[in-house]
Amino acid sequence: MSVSKNMFFVIVVIVIVFFRDIESLKNVVLDIEPRIVEFGKESTLRCSYDLENAPLYTVKWYRGQFEFYRFTPKEHPYTKTFPIEGLDVDESRSNEHQVVLRNIGFNLSGNFSCEVTTDEPLLAAITVIKDMLVVVLPKSPPSLTTDKSFYEVGDVLRANCSSPQSRPAATLTFILNNIVVCEKCITHKYPKEDLFRTESYLDLPLSPSHYHNGRLTLKCVAQIGDLYQQDTEFTFANVKDPIPARVTQTTSLARRLQKPFNCLLLTYFTICCFLYF
Ligand SMILES: *[C@@H]1O[C@H](CO)[C@@H](O)[C@H](O)[C@H]1NC(C)=O
Ligand SMILES: *[C@@H]1O[C@H](CO)[C@@H](O)[C@H](O)[C@H]1NC(C)=O
Ligand SMILES: *[C@@H]1O[C@H](CO)[C@@H](O)[C@H](O)[C@H]1NC(C)=O
Repeated sequence: MSVSKNMFFVIVVIVIVFFRDIESLKNVVLDIEPRIVEFGKESTLRCSYDLENAPLYTVKWYRGQFEFYRFTPKEHPYTKTFPIEGLDVDESRSNEHQVVLRNIGFNLSGNFSCEVTTDEPLLAAITVIKDMLVVVLPKSPPSLTTDKSFYEVGDVLRANCSSPQSRPAATLTFILNNIVVCEKCITHKYPKEDLFRTESYLDLPLSPSHYHNGRLTLKCVAQIGDLYQQDTEFTFANVKDPIPARVTQTTSLARRLQKPFNCLLLTYFTICCFLYF
């Protein structure tokens, strides 16, 4: 009886040790901070992991498929860098948990990965991957110009909105009194030295429904995904009420029609008098 009890105990111990070994390396996480980097700035790529008592063999860093940095505690020196054009590692701030990249250029947009390997007797390797995006945000809000400063019903509202150089390109949207009026407008891209200036045009015949209490507020919104949003707004001179304006026109038309009618009356009256006397 005591033999089988001992056997059972031994099996339990083996199972525990076995599963502990399998879980030797875990929680490998890659954080890129910032992950959306401004051109020319720096970013810290942090690789965290739980060794669970296993000895660390190596941490390797890759840009796409190319290794650029390696940390091996058993070697001297611990670190090795492999040059990749356009990739600048700040070695003084890089170690077994992070690499710091400086002077980041556009061609570093893309995948980075860290590969952690533990040494004997608990060999294990885990690779994690994350992407980075290199951007230039517009230096100022969009500029909005219109062909007139005052519009009546029936006029065509012509506007030009332009967002300064950025990468990726900003998309532009026109909003009139809080309603998007130019859903099919095309944002034209003008490339220059890796960046894009964008422009969009509005050509809108105005109907009474466009006015809100006689007011027109035109807004142009420049947007780059979730990264950036800025707008420029312009409220046009308050038209007292676009509908009475039309009524005034009708009145003047009626008056013009009245004139020949009065003449006719006068002529008729004159003829009558002439015949009578
Ligand atoms: C990245 O850009 C730099 C210049 O900004 C250039 O020297 C390098 O060759 C580029 N690297 C790649 C992989 O395209
Ligand atoms: C980046 O990695 C993802 C998987 O995380 C993959 O789907 C994608 O194709 C990779 N991009 C490039 C340019 O290799
Ligand atoms: C639109 O506005 C931008 C910036 O104000 C200007 O450079 C561009 O020439 C204008 N385009 C048109 C077609 O008016």
